[in-house]
Amino acid sequence: MEIREAREEDAAAIVALIDQVALQDETLGLDRYPGGATQLRQQIAETPPEASAFLVAADEGAVIGYAFVGRYVTPSLSHVGVLSIVVDPGHRRTGTGRRLMQRGEAWARAAGVRKLTLSVLATNRAGRALFSACGFEDEAVRKGQLRVGSAFLDEVLMVRWLT
Ligand SMILES: CC(C)(COP(=O)(O)OP(=O)(O)OC[C@H]1O[C@@H](n2cnc3c(N)ncnc32)[C@H](O)[C@@H]1OP(=O)(O)O)[C@@H](O)C(=O)NCCC(=O)NCCS
Repeated sequence: MEIREAREEDAAAIVALIDQVALQDETLGLDRYPGGATQLRQQIAETPPEASAFLVAADEGAVIGYAFVGRYVTPSLSHVGVLSIVVDPGHRRTGTGRRLMQRGEAWARAAGVRKLTLSVLATNRAGRALFSACGFEDEAVRKGQLRVGSAFLDEVLMVRWLT
């Protein structure tokens, strides 16, 4: 398995992965990836590398994980980065999420991010466990922030200060 930057031609596989996870385990608080593959392909092609990183975990050519990390452009927020990660259900607990996190964090450091943030559903035990294991701490809880089916679920904002 390798972690590498996403290419335009990975867009459909990334969206399929996210849509599968969104449907299957309600961890993302999404029904499907907004914008679809065409928009993601365009973002991968056109986003300057200093603004964000689109990373994939690839196993024998197949996309088994994805991470996005970006930073705000507004000067007063430019020390803040945002990260998200998803791993194919058939490839979990083998260190893929942690490796995506490490690459995302390396990008963030190089980009000058000081405060790396993410959000996770309070009910998402695997996500919270991964992020805690990677040094993130709970920063705030937004009550009832995400509607999943008929439930209003809490969103936990997590942070890791990069020194
Ligand atoms: C959260 C997620 C990315 C973890 O990916 P993963 O590849 O399985 O994670 P790793 O194998 O790298 O796990 C690293 C560590 O995280 C923790 N962890 C990960 N999954 C866990 C789980 N289900 N239960 C408990 N701890 C877990 C453990 O400490 C683990 O280390 P260990 O295996 O040595 O015990 C994956 O479960 C996923 O894609 N979930 C759906 C999407 C999501 O929730 N994304 C996060 C919100 S942005």
